[in-house]
Amino acid sequence: MTKILVVSGHTDLQKNSFANKIILSRLEEIMPAEYVYLDTEYPDWKFDAGREQDRLRNADVIVIQFPFFWYGVPSLLHKWMEEVFVHGFSHGSKGKALVGKKFLVSFTSGAPEELYTAGGVQGYPVDDFLIPLKQFAKACGMIWAGYVYSGGLSYASRHDDEKLQLMKEKALLHAERVAEMVKSL
Ligand SMILES: Cc1cc2nc3c(=O)[nH]c(=O)nc-3n(C[C@H](O)[C@H](O)[C@H](O)COP(=O)(O)O)c2cc1C
Repeated sequence: MTKILVVSGHTDLQKNSFANKIILSRLEEIMPAEYVYLDTEYPDWKFDAGREQDRLRNADVIVIQFPFFWYGVPSLLHKWMEEVFVHGFSHGSKGKALVGKKFLVSFTSGAPEELYTAGGVQGYPVDDFLIPLKQFAKACGMIWAGYVYSGGLSYASRHDDEKLQLMKEKALLHAERVAEMVKSL
């Protein structure tokens, strides 16, 4: 059976998330995997790099789930990448631990999808902001498995019941899309 690792990089999933919380809770229902919540497991942001490397070693498919924060991964997730994916483990002449694993990116943004176009309000198509993650996967010998993205999940809409309902449906659908995509790998 394919072993899936899902790493949540939200900085405060319990108290300060709407979309990622729904996505992850739905995913836990429909997709058997090891789920790692960096914010709850490491409230002091001090990772056990060895433990995280074991988790990665053990997985066939690695999914990172996060809200887009300033056009990239949140600081917590970036810190995890910096401290866990180290020379001799994930890259370098002796760092082959992740070669051939599939890497899938799942994320949400506040701005709606249609604002992510060349020259549009957000300046670039959303794919352009994923170039560092694509190259990160490649540098570690992982296979880029694509991404699942949902926009318009705005913090500002959290107090509007109608918008909240739409956001909930979108988040639930997002989880289904991730599960489908993983299944197709
Ligand atoms: C610090 C911070 C930075 C953000 N940066 C962006 C951004 O660059 N682009 C964008 O579309 N949304 C941005 N947002 C909105 C979040 O992506 C959005 O609130 C999140 O995806 C919703 O997921 P959640 O309910 O699980 O937090 C940002 C939000 C915060 C708090």
